[in-house]
Amino acid sequence: PAQRAAVRAAVDRHRETPGALLPVLHAVQDALGHVPKDAVPLIAFELNLSRAEVHGVVSFYHYFRQQPPGRHVVHLCRAEACQSVGAVALEAHAKRSLGVDYHETTPDGAITLEPVYCLGNCALGPALMIDGQLQGRVTPQRFDQLMARARV
Ligand code: FES
Repeated sequence: PAQRAAVRAAVDRHRETPGALLPVLHAVQDALGHVPKDAVPLIAFELNLSRAEVHGVVSFYHYFRQQPPGRHVVHLCRAEACQSVGAVALEAHAKRSLGVDYHETTPDGAITLEPVYCLGNCALGPALMIDGQLQGRVTPQRFDQLMARARV
């Protein structure tokens, strides 16, 4: 029911927009944290598209999650300025220490790892954002501290 209401609200808001599908998907993910599988037929029906079209778009853009995220979402910057100051090593460390790849959630449901391309914090790279909070000059040790703090 909450899902249906979120989809309805998103569709009502964007129905008249040309190419309404993307704004609708964004609104659904904003409201629910992901785009549930069950929402696909409803979105397709409301926008007069096929389920395959909607599903195709949801799976094409990694930004859209098909599963609920973990309790914390970490966005790791992969853009150039951060890469030149250690983001590559940080990324390898993050994946290894969390045991997940991008777009995945740790088995305890605590942390979802996502890539991002520049957080506007280039002077203080490597940068990441955890639950919308920006962090700069993140070393592997600092990364582990941040994750430990998030898990408390
Ligand atoms: Fe990472 Fe800009 S390149 S914040």
